[in-house]
Amino acid sequence: MRDRRTSDRHPGWPARLGPVRVRAGQVRVRPIRLRDAAAWSHVRTRDEAQLLPWEPTGVGPWRARNSVSSWPLVCSAMRGSARHGTLLPFAIEVDGELAGQITVGNVVRGALLSAWVGYWVATPLTGGGVATAALALTLDHCFGPVGLHRVEATVRPENTASRSVLARVGFREEGLLRRYLDVDGEWRDHVLVALTAEEQVGGFTAALVHSGRAQWS
Ligand code: ACO
Repeated sequence: MRDRRTSDRHPGWPARLGPVRVRAGQVRVRPIRLRDAAAWSHVRTRDEAQLLPWEPTGVGPWRARNSVSSWPLVCSAMRGSARHGTLLPFAIEVDGELAGQITVGNVVRGALLSAWVGYWVATPLTGGGVATAALALTLDHCFGPVGLHRVEATVRPENTASRSVLARVGFREEGLLRRYLDVDGEWRDHVLVALTAEEQVGGFTAALVHSGRAQWS
């Protein structure tokens, strides 16, 4: 008979990753929580213009979808999926403050051992290495404790900043997905990029530190 305490546990969840230091400050990755509501809503409402062009189209106006009162439902749904082993919904912190999100989704086990990753960073902190560091920490986690073999991401061809982040940690381009996702009200082409566990045996965060773009802290 299986031990429920271990069989119900999602490998790699919950988890706290980092810290590492980059130009913008000290970066940590940790599970999202209900008390993120005010900070999450503040940042996302302020940064609507920067986030809207890259996020899947949602139902209703941006302000309503990103209000303080919408967070408990969003957060609880994501944490529920995390408990079921299909999602890893993380907050990114810089110097202890909420600075974005990084989510590993559609975790599929069996012969695939695969998932996608997506992220955003608060506008005042962009250009400081935060997304790159958070992604490296998350990939080490995915290929380590979570036990995945493949992590993929999709990005709009026009999203230069995100494509730089993905390239910096070593994602390979696998092709162009035509009219792949409804983003900002239209079906948008996306570039598919991926990594498998064999591609960074020394670790993604260690590679970032080695390149001088981050320091252990
Ligand atoms: N044009 C070209 N390059 C840029 C731009 C730009 N407008 N902005 C930043 N960059 C470069 C930086 O110079 C840096 O490159 P470098 O490593 O050679 O110096 C890289 O892009 C950015 O690296 P970070 O500083 O680690 O990234 P940042 O913390 O700024 O976050 C992010 C990047 C997440 C794309 C942020 O701009 C954001 O949240 N954008 C809106 C939401 C979004 O696009 N999310 C990603 C969707 S796709 C996906 O999730 C897979």
